[in-house]
Amino acid sequence: MWETYYSVNSISEALALLDEYQETARIVAGGTDLILELERGQRPTVNTIIDITRVAGLDQITLHGETIRLGPLVNHNHVVASELILTRALPLAQASWEVGAPQIRNRATIVGNLITASPANDTITPLIALGAQLTLASVDGERTVPLREFYSGFRQTILRPNEMVTAVTFPALAENERGFFMKLGLRRAQAISVVDASVVLGFDESDAVTSARMTLGSVAPTIIRVPVAEQALIGKTLTPETISETARLASLTPEPIDDVRGTAEYRTEMVKVLIARILRQLAQDTIDAGIPDNPPMLWGDNHATVKIGLAETLKHTGDTPIETTINGTPVEINTGQHKSLLHWLRDDAKLPGTKEGCAEGECGACTVFLDGAAVMSCMVHAPRAHNAEIVTVEGLRDDEQLHPIQSAFIQESAVQCGYCTPGFLMSGAKLLEEIDSPNQEQINYSISGNLCRCTGYYKIVQAFQEASKAKQKS
Ligand SMILES: Cc1cc2nc3c(=O)[nH]c(=O)nc-3n(C[C@H](O)[C@H](O)[C@H](O)COP(=O)(O)OP(=O)(O)OC[C@H]3O[C@@H](n4cnc5c(N)ncnc54)[C@H](O)[C@@H]3O)c2cc1C
Ligand code: FES
Ligand code: FES
Repeated sequence: MWETYYSVNSISEALALLDEYQETARIVAGGTDLILELERGQRPTVNTIIDITRVAGLDQITLHGETIRLGPLVNHNHVVASELILTRALPLAQASWEVGAPQIRNRATIVGNLITASPANDTITPLIALGAQLTLASVDGERTVPLREFYSGFRQTILRPNEMVTAVTFPALAENERGFFMKLGLRRAQAISVVDASVVLGFDESDAVTSARMTLGSVAPTIIRVPVAEQALIGKTLTPETISETARLASLTPEPIDDVRGTAEYRTEMVKVLIARILRQLAQDTIDAGIPDNPPMLWGDNHATVKIGLAETLKHTGDTPIETTINGTPVEINTGQHKSLLHWLRDDAKLPGTKEGCAEGECGACTVFLDGAAVMSCMVHAPRAHNAEIVTVEGLRDDEQLHPIQSAFIQESAVQCGYCTPGFLMSGAKLLEEIDSPNQEQINYSISGNLCRCTGYYKIVQAFQEASKAKQKS
């Protein structure tokens, strides 16, 4: 899949390597897009991976005057947990909340989402509506590009082979501005957008619209704005008539394709529905953001991307040992460097408890803890395990004592064929570490990345509830 894997410990080293390897190299952040593209042979020229996830400080969300800045390792869970984004850039928080499931959001970055450039990628619509810019750096210097000009076609960007994105910046919403993002997927988690939309409006004292930016995703080769609908709002208040007419105008612009997720006709109709729903939300004094209080993140206590740094840049080729700690035991393994962490754990570390259900990040059977956060191990390159801490289902028990979630699964008979069980146990253990007494909604969200083909969900949820009670008693 790849020949050489660098783990760099500074941006300047990443830029030097990009300059040296050009089209044959790619940066990896969360890896949730890149690992699949490499496995599917969609990047035939790429044989060198440059991992930036050991560079400290790149996961910061900061406010500079009235400008918000995201570093290149800000992931979707960082955004959902950020009070700054929730209060000053709500559409981005809503979009990040809709991405994948907790294990995906713990690794997947905003920058990775922007660069993959699918018209269905959720954070592009809000960031264009918010007026975002990208900072692109190379050994030759920096340039700043408006996000809407970054896309040159379907899944294409103007990023040069020797460049990386070092920041996303955008104005924080002012007091007279409100914004909202909405997505239609075929299910409530792990769903690609059939249509998504963002609207950012400015208002005067009489609640008339003074500025409007409206973006649509998944209805054209790139994210589009709808100027006719935007213009129609200027000077108007959000009455039911205005809302309905604006939604109609917004649905005239796109010419979507038919695909497995929806017909063009359905998508066009859904644009109307989403825009009307968004405008009704923006017309109210209190917006229902749709993000629950204290959502389960499955990321433990330390939310920094870099928990264990590297003394120096590492180069992994076919025979460089991976030295790491698994279930509290230091190990050094000389094989499997080109595999995913899932396959490396099963084949080379000889820990078969972690299961492969889909190898696409969809089922959660491969969930492990990487440096304290639950992740899908099929989405992680094995060399990322070097100098890290990994916990697999084999490490959940404490000496001879089963973890409360394991005991509860036995007590509640929450196992049928058992194939999904290791993944559910890992999600459950991390949830209970994070929230002592999770409610039904929090339990449901915590397992939104875990699929059970035997569909034993009632028993599984009961086991989660029992484990929480047992934990409180102990
Ligand atoms: C199961 C599953 C569910 C998903 N659900 C959703 C969803 O609901 N909505 C959605 O929008 N997406 C979804 N995705 C897609 C994916 O998770 C996101 O696009 C994610 O944000 C990508 O970020 P990453 O850090 O993992 O990117 P990576 O895979 O690390 O990188 C993606 C691309 O960006 C490049 N890159 C990354 N960082 C930089 C940088 N700083 N400079 C230059 N190049 C860089 C890489 O070289 C690569 O080409 C899903 C993926 C999976 C597997
Ligand atoms: S999510 Fe990794 S095997 Fe299914
Ligand atoms: S118990 Fe069989 S897949 Fe869940």
